[in-house]
Amino acid sequence: MTLITTPFNAKTTAAEILAGVDLTGRRIIVTGGASGIGLETVRALRGAGAEVTVATRNPGDGERALDLSDLASVRSFVAGWSGPVHALVANAGIMALPALQVAANGWELQLATNFLGHFALITGLRDNLRQAGGARVVTVSSGAQLRAPFDFDDPHFERRPYDPWDAYAQSKTADVLLAVGLARRWAADGIAANSFEPGYVHTNLQRHIDDDAKRALGIMDDEGNLLTPDHFTTQEQGAATAVLLAASPLVEGVTGRYFSHDNQEAEVVQGGPGVMTGVAAWSVDPAAADRLWDYAAEASRG
Ligand SMILES: NC(=O)c1ccc[n+]([C@@H]2O[C@H](COP(=O)([O-])OP(=O)(O)OC[C@H]3O[C@@H](n4cnc5c(N)ncnc54)[C@H](OP(=O)(O)O)[C@@H]3O)[C@@H](O)[C@H]2O)c1
Repeated sequence: MTLITTPFNAKTTAAEILAGVDLTGRRIIVTGGASGIGLETVRALRGAGAEVTVATRNPGDGERALDLSDLASVRSFVAGWSGPVHALVANAGIMALPALQVAANGWELQLATNFLGHFALITGLRDNLRQAGGARVVTVSSGAQLRAPFDFDDPHFERRPYDPWDAYAQSKTADVLLAVGLARRWAADGIAANSFEPGYVHTNLQRHIDDDAKRALGIMDDEGNLLTPDHFTTQEQGAATAVLLAASPLVEGVTGRYFSHDNQEAEVVQGGPGVMTGVAAWSVDPAAADRLWDYAAEASRG
């Protein structure tokens, strides 16, 4: 299969991706759109004329309440929506909670927030996406998908020891598999779905990483100042691939693919410790996508 390329690179900003693109009349939802990469995604989409709804836990003026770890909240958001959705950017996320935390229904909190809540939201809005004609879903994954496959035997760490990074990794693998599953199921509705990793970006996401770990990663000096290594990207650059996949005419009709933060489709590789680039074979495996879809559909009925 030929990998999809674009004229952009890792330093391209979201605004540059949308230069000359008119999104007037397009209604777009961005989860977690009040901070970090989501906020820059919202700014760029609005800059191109789109009507953007920010879905967030603590809504301000013009924003809508949504707690992805709470199915009642997701259902209430869906029930309150009417009319088409031209694009949905499943961006909200949490990372590496130091100790196991579970949502009210017992779901491990990273899986609940990063994947299962988004599954319920997207499937709840299926008719609205269909109405748009040519809608796009974008799931924000991470290079962490290279670290661990989805554990179908124990997704909520009920029997295996909890590991903060394995929990994050499987949730981000699930986000890629979600786009693959959507592409396999909803093509006849004209709905495309893709996923991507935004690179390393300083945001609130790193709030659970302690200072020693930040120093070990080379992102903090001895005085406690944040450092920005060359391979980091800015929030405006991190949002670029989100808007490429949500709204650029350059990828019209593209579905079921995974892009890197350089705005190119990633190569499929064998995932495992120390693998840093590409998309893991387990993250794009169609059989795993189908199995995960069945699992999530059953879980989100609860
Ligand atoms: N930054 C990076 O280096 C990096 C790398 C790879 C992937 N990513 C991915 O990029 C996405 C955006 O993260 P970010 O770096 O921009 O971090 P961020 O600034 O912390 O943004 C995450 C957003 O998710 C929201 N959120 C968290 N829990 C939620 C819940 N239960 N319901 C609804 N919204 C919730 C947060 O809202 P609150 O303000 O309410 O907490 C926040 O607005 C995430 O999916 C992350 O995994 C980031």
